[in-house]
Amino acid sequence: MASILIVDDDAQLRQSFDKLLMTEGHSIRVAASGEAGLEEVKAESPDLVIMDVRLPGMNGLETFAAMRGMDPHLPVIIMTAYGTTETAIEATKLGAFDYILKPFEIPAVLKLIGEALKAGRFTRSRVEVDARPESASSDALIGRSQVMQEVYKAIGRVAPTDATVMIRGESGTGKELVSRAVYQHSLRAEQPFLVINCVAIPETLLESELFGYEKGAFTGASSRRVGKIEQAHRGTILLDEIGDMPVSIQAKILRLLQEKKIERLGSGHPVPVDVRIIAATNRDLEAAVADGRFREDLYYRLKVVTLHLPPLRERVEDIPLLTDYFLARFARDMDSENPGLTTDGLARLTSHSWPGNVRELSNALKNALIFSRGAPLNRDDVDRALESRESALRRAAPPTIKGDPLQNWVHQAMNAQGNDNLFDTLMDEIGTRIIAEALTRTGGNRTQAAKLLGISRPTLIARIEKYGLKVGTSVSHNGSSD
Ligand SMILES: Nc1ncnc2c1ncn2[C@@H]1O[C@H](COP(=O)(O)OP(=O)(O)OP(=O)(O)O)[C@@H](O)[C@H]1O
Ligand SMILES: [Mg+2]
Repeated sequence: MASILIVDDDAQLRQSFDKLLMTEGHSIRVAASGEAGLEEVKAESPDLVIMDVRLPGMNGLETFAAMRGMDPHLPVIIMTAYGTTETAIEATKLGAFDYILKPFEIPAVLKLIGEALKAGRFTRSRVEVDARPESASSDALIGRSQVMQEVYKAIGRVAPTDATVMIRGESGTGKELVSRAVYQHSLRAEQPFLVINCVAIPETLLESELFGYEKGAFTGASSRRVGKIEQAHRGTILLDEIGDMPVSIQAKILRLLQEKKIERLGSGHPVPVDVRIIAATNRDLEAAVADGRFREDLYYRLKVVTLHLPPLRERVEDIPLLTDYFLARFARDMDSENPGLTTDGLARLTSHSWPGNVRELSNALKNALIFSRGAPLNRDDVDRALESRESALRRAAPPTIKGDPLQNWVHQAMNAQGNDNLFDTLMDEIGTRIIAEALTRTGGNRTQAAKLLGISRPTLIARIEKYGLKVGTSVSHNGSSD
């Protein structure tokens, strides 16, 4: 839940925002003028401001600048109507998170709000490096193992330089968390930090999202748009899942790294930008280079400063510490007592292989806590929490009886006990098989896999995430569910 301030003189619009965002679980404050908006921010800084550019009295740009003065990390989304887009563009260049054109579509607005809140969290809530589990109040990097000590040292070394940093590690090892730590300990900590997830954005949009475009650059480009890279001027940008970035865009990123210039689509004029790049990936980049899916020159450029995050199975000695931290944290969030863990419960945790790494551990503990009755979590509780839909179904499969194998499988699954979510579980299992097969056939190429299945790339990616599939040369579950 976030606190959001709406600044607009249109009472009807304030009301509809109020309704929309309340149902999303946010707490809303409203202000009818720039001055009133500033008072609200002064009284208590919200997590996000959504503001019209055209306001009575103090105008949107002035208000925006004053808000920035009070809280430099406050994300602001500007609302604009035709005719005032230039002002909105001006505001984004000055550091507004983004702007939306009135009248707007609700899904698009909600998506933008989600992104802005995430950006705010990235820049504002600090990541404590090498925190003690009991003292960690916010996000923290937990772990005392030798391999994690090396990671902390590397963060300390690279953060205050302006070097491009690449963060590598399996899914769920903490790449995003580490990127935040690098940013927060950098000389650019007071400047913007933007995250671009190269997989979550459809290929066709990624380029304009990153580089922006000029009016008329393509059908539908009705006004100029400043790209994320330009918006992050003087700041930092995380290119998340860079291993999945289309080759054509990789060339432009290389140019940015070499010449510190970008070109908006349809412009032909390079503009200088000063951004620090952090790139993260869980992909096998060396294989991608060998296959021609990743540019070799970009690879070498990024490789210079690399942080390798170890998988959890290579630092099992950190599991007790991580467990303490997550249990305390989730118990606090759920307003319940921390039940602690029995010795055999902990033994079960340390013997698991954790393909989904810290994220899988955190999900399992959250699960265990939800079903705990206050007694310390023992081996069975941990087992139950770890038992994902796949193991439940593996008991029912494989279909070996004569006849329709699919029907047999369904039949057996229904006979197996202890699943109150049977329909979804079965559908997910089928979906998992379909997507996994498509990815195997296309060597993990999501664009081709989406095409093969006749679904859009974002839909495919959403499924991959939902099913916790790991994309690589071989496909297997990674057990993550968040
Ligand atoms: N060392 C750590 N200490 C505490 N929490 C951690 C640590 N590493 C990861 N986490 C937590 O585990 C979860 C996954 O981390 P994160 O999103 O940074 O992983 P990732 O490497 O970016 O994964 P993916 O490749 O799937 O995007 C987050 O909730 C994060 O806070
Ligand atoms: Mg990540």
